[in-house]
Amino acid sequence: MKKILMVFGTRPEAIKMAPLYKILAKEPDFIVRVAITAQHREMLDQVLDLFKIVPEYDLNMMKEGQTLYDITAKALIGLRDVLADFEPDLVLVHGDTTTTLAASLAAFYASIPLGHVEAGLRTGDKFAPYPEEMNRCLTDVLSDFYFAPTKQNRDNLLLENIDDDKIFITGNTVIDALMMTIKEPLSLDEFGLADVDWNKKVILLTCHRRENWGEPMLEIFRGIRDVVENREEVDVVFPVHKNPRVRKAAEEIFAGLTRVHRIEPLDYHPFSHLMARSYLVLTDSGGIQEEAPALGKPVLVLRDTTERPEAVAAGTVKIAGTGREGVRRETLALLEDEEQYKRMAMQANPYGDGTACNQICDIIKIRENQQKIIFFVDFLVVILIWQYIILVM
Ligand code: UD1
Ligand code: UDP
Repeated sequence: MKKILMVFGTRPEAIKMAPLYKILAKEPDFIVRVAITAQHREMLDQVLDLFKIVPEYDLNMMKEGQTLYDITAKALIGLRDVLADFEPDLVLVHGDTTTTLAASLAAFYASIPLGHVEAGLRTGDKFAPYPEEMNRCLTDVLSDFYFAPTKQNRDNLLLENIDDDKIFITGNTVIDALMMTIKEPLSLDEFGLADVDWNKKVILLTCHRRENWGEPMLEIFRGIRDVVENREEVDVVFPVHKNPRVRKAAEEIFAGLTRVHRIEPLDYHPFSHLMARSYLVLTDSGGIQEEAPALGKPVLVLRDTTERPEAVAAGTVKIAGTGREGVRRETLALLEDEEQYKRMAMQANPYGDGTACNQICDIIKIRENQQKIIFFVDFLVVILIWQYIILVM
């Protein structure tokens, strides 16, 4: 039996690992356990509840104002003990958070093979996104198996001299998660959205990235405020990240604006339906750049760069930047220019067809069977040599 430990700590990792956990856990040849760092607490628990995942290990480490040093150090030490207890044959991590990096390092220190789900995303800029670009680069230095969402991600890994036979293009597991939730119907009325006028053009906004903290985030919000103040037909729904720094910036710019609906972070199920019901999405999130186009919604990226260039090339997302004027201009363009809107809404999404988790599971099974065959052949050779020695002596 192969023992697999899945490690994650934040909302997006949990969403993207949940469907994979469900599939791996059904395999009779695998013993699968989940360890959470709980770098996020409430926002992670929302996902665990939705997908009915009960982690065997919970480091419960979130603190208000936690620094990158706090997260890295606590996760590394905590996971050392988890690895010693469970002794997995394989550790699976996801994406680019500080939990991801710490778990990868812990697996390396314990000499345990590491699989990286969502490997190979790059902007090429060490500080954008910060610290995610370095988190994923370092994780890929430490990994043994690379589950790359797209061909572009594979090419990025090849440029870093990763062996081609360790890289598998699978699509992104977020599409699997989205397909699981969106097919369950849901009314949005009870989620703090009763005041939203669905007859208007509803813009869904999310914003949380570290490199946007401070002035860039205020500028982004000013650009959106300009749009709302000038266009009566717009309502904005903003599920505000739990980080107090984000909340303070949102309060500073949006206080008193009744058509900007600031609500608590939504469970993934209502959030996926909210994306589907929105006219347009403005976000600095990674995952939402992959999900919203799968629902036919154009995305304006509130960043200066993206590690998802295939979405830009496909025309499903566009970089609006972090300046007030750029955000205002690009948003108005999509509200006013129906042709541009339709062009973005109707492009094919490059992140897969919702089979990524099955593919990853099959790859792990095939590797496992190959190892069994190698072991069996080695065993047979030893027996034959013994027989030969006995015969000739
Ligand atoms: C983290 C990840 C980022 C990811 C994002 C997804 C790192 C360094 N950053 O950033 O890559 O895109 O998660 O959302 O790994 N908080 C709560 N409750 C929660 C979650 C957060 O109160 O459920 C508050 C806490 O005060 C916490 C703060 O938010 O200290 C920041 O959380 P943290 O994980 O450090 O950073 P994020 O910006 O969420
Ligand atoms: N999401 C959610 N509820 C919300 C906002 C976002 O479930 O209120 C989901 C979203 O669909 C996506 C993920 O959270 O799958 C993105 O998380 P986040 O933006 O925090 O992180 P990132 O993708 O930027 O790392």
